[in-house]
Amino acid sequence: MPPFYITTPIYYVNDAPHVGHAYCTVNADALARWHRLLGDEVFFLTGTDEHGAKVAEAAEQHGVSPQEWADTVVQRFVSAWGDLHVSNDDYIRTTEPRHHRSVQAFLQRIYDNGYIRLDTYRGLYCVSCEDYYTPEQLVDAKCPVHDRPVTEMEEENYFFELSKFEDRLLEWYESAPEAIRPMTKRNEALSFVRGGLKDISITRTSLEWGVPVPWNPSHIFYVWSDALVNYLTAIGFGEDEARCAHWWPAVHHVVGKEILRFHCVWWPAMCMAAGIEPPAHVFVHGWLLVGGRKLSKSLIALAAGDAVGNGASEDGGDAPVRLTEIAPQVLTHDFGVDPTRYHLLREVPFGTDGDFSYEGMVSRYNADLANNLGNLVSRVATVVASKCGGVGPAPDPDSALGPLAAQIVGAVSDAWARFQPHEALESTWRLIGAANAALEAAEPWKAEPGPAVDAVLGDALEVLRLVSLLASPAMPTTCAEIWRRIGLEGAPEDRQVPEDAVWGGYPGGVPVERGAALFPRRKATA
Ligand code: MSP
Repeated sequence: MPPFYITTPIYYVNDAPHVGHAYCTVNADALARWHRLLGDEVFFLTGTDEHGAKVAEAAEQHGVSPQEWADTVVQRFVSAWGDLHVSNDDYIRTTEPRHHRSVQAFLQRIYDNGYIRLDTYRGLYCVSCEDYYTPEQLVDAKCPVHDRPVTEMEEENYFFELSKFEDRLLEWYESAPEAIRPMTKRNEALSFVRGGLKDISITRTSLEWGVPVPWNPSHIFYVWSDALVNYLTAIGFGEDEARCAHWWPAVHHVVGKEILRFHCVWWPAMCMAAGIEPPAHVFVHGWLLVGGRKLSKSLIALAAGDAVGNGASEDGGDAPVRLTEIAPQVLTHDFGVDPTRYHLLREVPFGTDGDFSYEGMVSRYNADLANNLGNLVSRVATVVASKCGGVGPAPDPDSALGPLAAQIVGAVSDAWARFQPHEALESTWRLIGAANAALEAAEPWKAEPGPAVDAVLGDALEVLRLVSLLASPAMPTTCAEIWRRIGLEGAPEDRQVPEDAVWGGYPGGVPVERGAALFPRRKATA
């Protein structure tokens, strides 16, 4: 069982979980689940980034200590991920003692290896980014990411000598061309390094909320230099060398595009400086944006099923809503957990920015889930009840759907290997479409019971078995339910790909249950 260690970024607790965070976490979760299906030994980590000026600022605004603030917000992340059926194996909080110990051990190693020096830092700081900018990088004198004013800062800081790693990073990009995906993001990291690297400030004296620097406790580590180390803390860095060596460097980081530089430049260089391998993979995704038609507060309220009368929301209007204001629970409450997961994985090609809209979600739900998958499940169960006495027939071993299924299993595996979940799902849905088309051509509901009807229904049941397997990383609960309804033992999660994804696995002779519609059709919004 090859080890497969997968991580999400750790989320800042200055903010409540929103759909953008859910996008990142659900993508990582689906990849973790796919690798479990492959039979890999998976360790999936998520967590929260609880230090830094941003969190201290949020706590102060709420009149509580940073620790109290973190303790409260962290519960919202934990429950958001529970609600979305996220299958993480561990949850790291950077305020935990285990993390403080590993940050100190890791950075002490870099210090001992001679890559950290003391200097004075002057620069323009954005608290939201927890990052410095040059005047040229600002837009209208504001942070280009958050559109908020930056602060002039001057401090004595310890610096990590990133500039010494230019050549080694370029060699790494060259020797591991697949390490950063998609290719466009790799090229971005490459040109950033080619543009020349400056040493980076990794400590602060102006703040107390953080991990103390072991060789000079009047400094604390800058939030990013502490945060990145979480990936090592969770596998026992500095405390359990065997465990750490087991999982590292077989690590796969899923991150958003604005933190590419930290993960594709700083982090591999820090690993090299500490004498460990850089990560095996960094998957960089784009942003979900609320564009097209604006997503309004009243629409969100409608989406959540709230009574909103004439459409006015509590704050008195149809004010545009930012994506960061939409809690994932708003979507799961209205659409269900699996349809929300499906949409987050299917709608936007991984690596590019994409539009998130409620209307888009309704139309994809109706097209893909209600009309396609849901329809196949219900019509097969109905016809098996009326023509086969509720007992599912076996598939035809020579069905024309067999070679198509084999080709699709290959395409799905390939898409996951390149981390393109939308493509994996698109391919899976081609198989559903083919089974629906075969049923429409044969019209078993009009035919007399007999071998021809058995064959077409058996084929459709086999497609449902394969689809439940292939789509289970995206929709684990629904796929387990389809699996059960078609009379199979256990759940797709207990099976393995490619072994169990071979045409002909549906045994036949098992009861098929008719159940309530899996995806009741939704009315399109105006
Ligand atoms: N704490 C740092 C990460 C440290 S990792 C060692 C951080 N936290 S964050 O909460 O601001 O963002 C975490 C992740 O959420 C990022 O990968 C970011 O891209 C993702 N998203 C936040 N908003 C998003 C969208 N609107 N769309 C997609 N992902 C978004 O950065």
